Amino acid sequence: MNTPEPTAITPATAASIEAAAEHLRAGRLVAFPTETVYGLGADATNGRAVAAIFAVKCRPRLNPLIVHVADVEEAERFASLTPLARRLAEVFWPGPLTIVARRRPNSRLADLVTAGLDTVAVRVPDHLVARALLLASGNPLAAPSANRSGHVSPTRAEHVAADLGHRVAMILDGGSAVHGLESTVVDATGSELYVLRPGFLTAESIETAVGPRVRRVFATSSRPLSPGQLARHYAPKAGLRLDAREVRPGEALLAFSAPEPPTSGPRVNLSPRGDLVEAAANLFAALRSLDQTGAERIAVMPIPDTGLGEAINDRLKRAAAR
Ligand code: TXA
Ligand code: MG
Repeated sequence: MNTPEPTAITPATAASIEAAAEHLRAGRLVAFPTETVYGLGADATNGRAVAAIFAVKCRPRLNPLIVHVADVEEAERFASLTPLARRLAEVFWPGPLTIVARRRPNSRLADLVTAGLDTVAVRVPDHLVARALLLASGNPLAAPSANRSGHVSPTRAEHVAADLGHRVAMILDGGSAVHGLESTVVDATGSELYVLRPGFLTAESIETAVGPRVRRVFATSSRPLSPGQLARHYAPKAGLRLDAREVRPGEALLAFSAPEPPTSGPRVNLSPRGDLVEAAANLFAALRSLDQTGAERIAVMPIPDTGLGEAINDRLKRAAAR
C-alpha cells in the first residue's frame, strides 16, 4: 500500500524560517506568504535557483521577476532609485507596490531575474514571515506567485501545495494572504510614473501621495494588457540564426550540449552537459557577451523544446524575429 507523501507545508516559526533560509542559500526554492499572494522564492543572486522558478512554474516565457527585499537600503544596493521612486518607497513600503528602477551595473543580481534588462522590479513586502525570511536568508529573493503558469494565484499554503507540491523544498505557512491580489507594478525610472500592472494599490492612491503624474500604460490601446509583455525586452544587436548545425563566416556560436560545431570565432556554451536549467541561467549573460564581440550574427544550436527549453526557445525566437 502506498503511504501518502508527507506535505511540504511547514508552519512558520523562528526555526522553520531559519531552515527555509538555509534552503534558499543552497539554491533551493521556498514558497512563502506575503500580504498580496504566496510567492515562490529563490535567491535572486543565484541564476540556477532563479531558472528553477521558471521550470517549477512551467512558465513558457522568461519574463522578468520581482525582487523582494527587507528595506529600501537593500533595494538601493542594486536598484538606482530616482527621488520620485524614493518618495514612493517612503510612502508605500512595506506594502503592495513594486517599483521598476534602473538596475545598477555590477549588481550581484542574476541576469535572468531581469531577463537581461537594465531595469529591475523591486518591492518590500508587508508581511512578518516574508520579512523574517528575507532577513534570515541575507539575500534579495526573486518571487513570482507560487502557482503553475496559467493557474490562479495562491492565497493559502494549501493552494501552493496543491499546485506545486513537492517541487519546492518548503512551503512556509503564514496563514491567508490578506490582499489576495498582486502588487501594483510602477515604472519609476523617469519623471512620470507608468502603471505597468494594476494591482492591490490603486493608481488613485499613488496620485494622492505624489501628485498627478501617474500614467496607466495598461489602459492604453496601443500597449498590450498582459503583464509580461509590458516589459521592454532585452534584444541583442546581432541577428540570430536558430537551429544552426554549423558556424558560418562572421558568426558567433551560442552552443548547447555537445559536440559543438567547429569555429575559430567567439563561442559560449549555455550548458555543455545539456542541462536546461543551467542553460536558462546562462542565457542572457551569454547573449550579451556574444553581442559585445561585435559579431554580425549569432548561430544558435538547437535546444530541445521540452521543459524549460520551451521558455528558452520562446526568448530566442522573439530575438531572432526582429
Ligand atoms: O504581489 C506580487 O507582486 C507577487 C508577490 C509574491 O510578491 N509577486 C509577483 O511577482 O507577482 P512576478 O514576478 O510574477 O511579477 C512580475 C511582474 C510582471 O508584470 C513583470 O512584467 C513585471 O513584474 N516586471 C518585472 N521586472 C520588470 C522590469 N524590469 N520592467 C518592467 N516590468 C517588470
Ligand atoms: Mg502570477
